[in-house]
Amino acid sequence: SGGPITELNIVNKEISPDGFARQGVLANGTMPGPIIKGNKGDNFQINVIDQLTNTTMNTSTTVHWHGIYQHQTNWADGPAFVTQCPIIAGNSFLYNFTVPDQAGTFWYHSHEGVQYCDGLRGPFIVYDPDDPHKDLYDVDDDTTVITLADWYHSPANDLLAGPVDADSVLINGLGRLNNSDTPVSVIEVEQGKRYRFRLISTSCHPYFNFSIEGHDNMTIIEADGQNTEPLPDIDSIQILAAQRYSFVLEANQPVGNYWIRAAPQTVVAGSAGTPTGLAILRYVNATAVDPTTDPYDIPDPQNPLLEQNLRSYGNVTVPPLDPDCDECDIVLNFSLNTVTGSFFVNDTTYLNASYVNPPVPVLLQILNGTYNAHDLMPANSVQSLPLNKTIQITMPGIIAGPHPLHLHGHSFFVIQSAGSDTPNTINPVRRDTVSIGTGPTNPATIRFVTDNPGPWFMHCHIDFHLAAGFALVMAEAASDVPDYVRPVPPAWEELCREYNSTNPR
Ligand code: C2O
Repeated sequence: SGGPITELNIVNKEISPDGFARQGVLANGTMPGPIIKGNKGDNFQINVIDQLTNTTMNTSTTVHWHGIYQHQTNWADGPAFVTQCPIIAGNSFLYNFTVPDQAGTFWYHSHEGVQYCDGLRGPFIVYDPDDPHKDLYDVDDDTTVITLADWYHSPANDLLAGPVDADSVLINGLGRLNNSDTPVSVIEVEQGKRYRFRLISTSCHPYFNFSIEGHDNMTIIEADGQNTEPLPDIDSIQILAAQRYSFVLEANQPVGNYWIRAAPQTVVAGSAGTPTGLAILRYVNATAVDPTTDPYDIPDPQNPLLEQNLRSYGNVTVPPLDPDCDECDIVLNFSLNTVTGSFFVNDTTYLNASYVNPPVPVLLQILNGTYNAHDLMPANSVQSLPLNKTIQITMPGIIAGPHPLHLHGHSFFVIQSAGSDTPNTINPVRRDTVSIGTGPTNPATIRFVTDNPGPWFMHCHIDFHLAAGFALVMAEAASDVPDYVRPVPPAWEELCREYNSTNPR
């Protein structure tokens, strides 16, 4: 308790990050929003004030703190209709949570509809002043954050009918359309110094191949808020929507300007695609000009299977599966009905409805005891999990991917990466968003312990796929919610009264 209050004013404002002007949904008027920073152990009190007026992009909002466990504060997690009703225009809501045992690179974003694609996305960095693993990043500077974003010239609500390519890719909020020379972001380094760069994909859809010209020996040291065994000699980082990496960059090249590139996966087959996102790595004492090399000359990614080579730092103990627990070993077969564009869970004949928001948030359903978590939801929308068990989830890939699967409330061990032939239980990487691949491939398998009661959303982090039902709720200890999940502030219940009074249904 007692931390300083941060204010996020959510506003509609015109911005032109790539030279094209449009209205956005913005935290404090910028995209990315302000960096929220703190230390391990801090209490965060973040007041979200909804000042939205533009009805083409939803005037209600919520904010999710992606990757933060929210242990004992499930109500502050943010996903609309899973843990809260949306905040309506003119109202505010105080998110109040502590981060006792996490440090690393996180982010925050709207979790109301596809609203984050309209701009409400920003970095959330937790430092650990007493990090026992400081040797991992014996660096001169660890303040640089690089956000990647896909950007569209239309409101995301107008793009729900089918996949479209982004108009541009933004690096730290600036990008370029084809044949333009609008300003791009500049990251300054001093020759001879070592830097920890924190890379965050705030993408709504494509993944990116990220590279820095002339610097093909990056060393990865963190994935999604977890230290990794240093993975050296990386020339290109494939990063899916919502994933994060920290890498060490040595500024060991001649003083000059170097292209930073984020090459997006094309979404629509056969289309011209989206121009590569650009920024400049500029050495101190270099002239303030663009590099002279071709910005679109993208190196072939040499590390397409980066994740298979990542390992947790130190010795981690992978929790064993309990052979007597039938409900602990789960297979989730996702599928896409290509006729309707909707996604399904364990329902290859599309007999049930796909995931839709329930009228009452799942947490409220569980807390007030009037409903079982399942009552208001289509079949397969809620998976109940027993408390204090090891859960293993196996997920085959499907078309229109690779799909970044995200689980709220946890980091999970990646026991098998999509496309890999064999499982691995020796220091597997832990993360919160994993590729399940695309099409018939070896499935991805993850494992975690149910030590965090409450309903946690699990979904594809391609935001347009989430909107098309690629989601389910993991209801952890739903039938026996411990008391500490119950005490929610009265303002939280107020949200639903106010939402329902303006959105009758
Ligand atoms: Cu980044 Cu459900 O969230």
